[in-house]
Amino acid sequence: MPAVEIKPDMYWVGVNDRTTDLFEGLWPISREGVSYNSFVIKDEKTAIIDLAKAMKTDDFFGQIADITSLRDIDYCVINHVEPDHTGVLRILKEMAPDMTIVCTEKAAGLLEAYYGVHDNMKIVGDGDTLSLGKRTLQFFSTPFVHWPETMMTFEPSDGVLFSCDGFGGYGALQGTIFDDECQDQAFYERESLRYFVNIVAKFRVSVRKAIQKLADVDVRMIAPSHGLIWRAHPERIIELYQEWCDYPGTPGDLAVTLIYGSMYGNTERFMNAVAQGIAGEGLDVEIFDAARTHSSYMLPYLWTRRGVVVGAPTYEGALFPPVWEVIREARIKGVKNRQLAMFGSYGWTGGALRDLVKIVEPVKWNLVDSLEIKGGANSESIAQAAAFGRRFAVTLKEG
Ligand SMILES: Cc1cc2nc3c(=O)[nH]c(=O)nc-3n(C[C@H](O)[C@H](O)[C@H](O)COP(=O)(O)O)c2cc1C
Ligand SMILES: [Fe+2]
Ligand SMILES: [Fe+2]
Repeated sequence: MPAVEIKPDMYWVGVNDRTTDLFEGLWPISREGVSYNSFVIKDEKTAIIDLAKAMKTDDFFGQIADITSLRDIDYCVINHVEPDHTGVLRILKEMAPDMTIVCTEKAAGLLEAYYGVHDNMKIVGDGDTLSLGKRTLQFFSTPFVHWPETMMTFEPSDGVLFSCDGFGGYGALQGTIFDDECQDQAFYERESLRYFVNIVAKFRVSVRKAIQKLADVDVRMIAPSHGLIWRAHPERIIELYQEWCDYPGTPGDLAVTLIYGSMYGNTERFMNAVAQGIAGEGLDVEIFDAARTHSSYMLPYLWTRRGVVVGAPTYEGALFPPVWEVIREARIKGVKNRQLAMFGSYGWTGGALRDLVKIVEPVKWNLVDSLEIKGGANSESIAQAAAFGRRFAVTLKEG
C-alpha cells in the first residue's frame, strides 16, 4: 500500500500482513491479517516512528524511499522492541548509518540482546522531548503496554499519539487507514477486542495506568502500530480499551458463553438441550466446540460475558483436554468473577467437574449449578439438561 500523508509532512508507511497465519506464532490471523504501522515525519530532522516485522522489506523501504532518502533518516524512535516493530531495524541501520535510535533505557538493553545494536542511541525518559525543527516529539513511559520497555510518542502541534501496541488491533488495512473512511468499523472494533484479550489483557492494569496518564494530554489522533488510525473519533478506541480493561472487576454483560467438547456426541446432545433452555429464557448464548475453535476467538466472549457454561465429558479422570485448555488460558489472561455452570457425560466415576472447580477457584468463578450424567442421553436426561439451562439463565438474570 502506498504511503499515506496523515498530517502535513507526516506519513503512514507500513506493512499490511495477509500472509502470516499466526500472530506471535500463536494467534490465528490468516483470515483477518494485521498491519505493522510505521510513521515518517519530515522536518529539519527526519524521524521514523516504529518499524515493521522483517517481511515485505522491499515494499516497506520502497514506501519510505518515496518520501525521503533512507540515508536522510536522522532518528528512529523505537516505542517497543517486539520484533513485529523492529524486525527490519538492522537492515535500516545499514542503510541509514548516521541514524540515531531513540528509545527508553530498558529498550536499549533489549535492542542489544536481540540485535546486538548499541551505538548511536539516544535514551529518553518519561516527559522528555526531542525537537525535529518545527515539530517536537514528546515521550511517555508506558511500561507493560505491552513489554516493560514500552513508551508512547506524542506530537503536540497536531495532537498525534503514536501508541504502538496500545489501542491496536488485528485486521489488515482494507484500502484506507482512517476510521472515518472505513466502511466496516465493526470489524476493526471486534478485531481490536480479540487483539486486546489475546495480547494485552494480561497487562490491563498497565494499560489503565497509561490511559490515566494520557487523560490530560490533548490527543487528537491515535496512530497505533496495528490497525486503524483513529482521527475522527480518537476517543472511541480509548473508551473501548478502558471498558475492556475494566471487565474483570465487573459482573460482565448479561449473556452466556457455552464452551463444550464431546468425543462421542453424548455431551453434545446435552449441550443442545442446555442451549435451548438458556435461549428460551431470552439470553444470547454463543456456542463453541473447544476442540475445533482456537482460544483466540473464545477468549473475547469469556472476557466480556457474565455467564460461562462448560460442557465436557470426563477424560482420564479430568476435564476433556480442549475445554481444559481454554479455561486455563482464560484464567491466565485474567478472566475473573464469572458465573459458571457445568454439565457433561461420564462413564464410570467422573472427575471433569472436580477438575474444573480446581482450575477456576483462584479466579473466583462462582459455580452456580452442575449436571454430570452417567452415559448417554435419554428423554429424561435431555429434559434435565434443558431445565438446567433455564435455571442458569434465570439465575443470571436475577443476579
Ligand atoms: C480416552 C477416554 C478416557 C476416559 N476417561 C474417563 C474417566 O477417567 N472417568 C470416567 O468416568 N469416564 C471416562 N471416560 C468415559 C467418558 O467420559 C464417557 O464415554 C462419556 O460418555 C463421553 O462423553 P461424550 O460422548 O460427550 O464424549 C473416558 C473415555 C475415553 C474415550
Ligand atoms: Fe507487542
Ligand atoms: Fe505489536
